[in-house]
Amino acid sequence: MNTRITELLDIKYPIIQGAMSWVSFPPLVAAVSNAGGLGILGAAFMAPDELRENIVRIKDLTDQPFGVNFMADNPILDDLLEVLITEKVKVASYGKGNPEQVIAKTRPHGIVNMPTVGSLRHALKAERDGADALIVQGTEGGGHTGFVATSILVPLVSAHLNIPIVAAGGIGNARGLVAALALGAEGVSMGSRFIVTQEAPVPYHVKQHLVDRSEEDTIITDNFTGVRCRVMKNQFSENLRSMARNGSSPWEIMKTGVGKIRKAYVEGDIDGGSLAFGQVCGLIREIPTCQELIEGMVRESRMVWRSVESKIRNGAA
Ligand SMILES: Cc1cc2nc3c(=O)[nH]c(=O)nc-3n(C[C@H](O)[C@H](O)[C@H](O)COP(=O)(O)O)c2cc1C
Repeated sequence: MNTRITELLDIKYPIIQGAMSWVSFPPLVAAVSNAGGLGILGAAFMAPDELRENIVRIKDLTDQPFGVNFMADNPILDDLLEVLITEKVKVASYGKGNPEQVIAKTRPHGIVNMPTVGSLRHALKAERDGADALIVQGTEGGGHTGFVATSILVPLVSAHLNIPIVAAGGIGNARGLVAALALGAEGVSMGSRFIVTQEAPVPYHVKQHLVDRSEEDTIITDNFTGVRCRVMKNQFSENLRSMARNGSSPWEIMKTGVGKIRKAYVEGDIDGGSLAFGQVCGLIREIPTCQELIEGMVRESRMVWRSVESKIRNGAA
């Protein structure tokens, strides 16, 4: 399975673990990279020293390429980029903020720039700014997310751009991988699916809770928080909604939300924390290792592809 993405990132399979604050810590990052994909450290809330420590821990666990995710509008951006450069990190991943400054600083050091976008407008700008590849995330995805479905956004962006793109949002199995390639992507990035793996440093009862949820159990919070985030419905999301009903300002509501992803995924508080998660929960029924997940997807994608071909042949006969 070679695409421009496997070549650019120097990985075996075009499968990326989307960065997740409070979840994609070294054990998960290394497990994905060791299994032939690309793990990405979720470093949005890390200080430079903490970032370096986490990178060193990843390097102890794998000799394969990996990425680091941060916010491009972080006031300490320059210090974080210095760590990426001195530690020779392969891939810079970022969502919020302007790619231009990051690219100018990291490109001369051979770091691959792969920002995440949720609209055609941002995709065009990132390519103009000099991004090497893009993660294009549709609204199905967990965490901060856009308005447009993956099935529309990916072919639209791929028709307008020359750089390779990676599809994200709602992908969790071999059918999703084959569909993403058919839509014009050259790889997939999965966040939610990787939360429900053996190596994700998330309490087991949280993973089991997610296995038991359905595709109808997520909501998008911007109606009441002003921040567009896809999360699992729970007591916490209900509390936010009633704060809005009772006249709290979006700012007050947002303040309540700070640190709540940590409460869910690190402390294991299913009711009181914010379970950022995507609609793909409807497809998740098992808790595999990262290797089982990645190799299973690659193996089954060949069968899916053959079944597509046979449908076309039989239809024409
Ligand atoms: C718990 C959680 C935390 C996330 N944190 C970040 C983050 O810090 N930075 C980022 O760029 N994307 C973040 N994301 C988005 C993911 O990287 C990925 O794009 C998204 O999960 C893909 O959609 P999927 O959940 O359907 O696979 C987060 C997603 C989740 C579920």
